[in-house]
Amino acid sequence: MSDVDARPSPVLEEKVLRTGQGVRVVWRAEELSRIHGIDLGALVWRRPADEGTRRWLETLDPDALPSLRVITPVEAVPRLLAARRPGNAGYEWDVLTRDIIRLAHAFGDLVGGSHLRLRLDVVTTNACRRYHMDRVPLRLVCTYRGTGTQFGPGRPGRDPDPRFMAPPWSPLLLRGIPGEVGDCPGIVHRSPPIEGMGETRLVLVLDPVSCPDAHAVKGVP
Ligand SMILES: [Fe+2]
Repeated sequence: MSDVDARPSPVLEEKVLRTGQGVRVVWRAEELSRIHGIDLGALVWRRPADEGTRRWLETLDPDALPSLRVITPVEAVPRLLAARRPGNAGYEWDVLTRDIIRLAHAFGDLVGGSHLRLRLDVVTTNACRRYHMDRVPLRLVCTYRGTGTQFGPGRPGRDPDPRFMAPPWSPLLLRGIPGEVGDCPGIVHRSPPIEGMGETRLVLVLDPVSCPDAHAVKGVP
């Protein structure tokens, strides 16, 4: 499997541009809006990890990794994360949460709407093992610990060709299909198969929310 730095070949480019299966790599947050290009099915924002925070996350016991599932206005994300700040948290926690807040704002600007669904998941199983498309118009996935999301041009239920992996700390934008996915071509993806390998991943997932309950921030204890 190729790292996403291995750009699609010209032949593949031609094929994917006709089927909405294009993959673009960008290096700046300002380029995230390119995902709205009709030919693209995915976009990766390549960026380096904060090495200190990456090492800190790697050394944490899986039970100590932060997790969160909420539907929330973007503006409330800092407060939600601050409420979960461990007493002994240091620089690394601040880097991680600032990054999540930054991605929430960037994604909110892309999709509009008043609320986002935010999941910060600790994953130890294969999660979504089959290649698929999500039933949301757009999803952001950023792996902070462990192996990144696998993806590529293809059809649901089949292995894509070629296959790429989004590097950790490099957000992956995936276009989905809000209705019935069927057998239509696009960029399919899956969680990497890690079950039984002793690996623990920490993954941020952001989705737009079309009909939030405006009177409650769900999932807040
Ligand atoms: Fe998915």
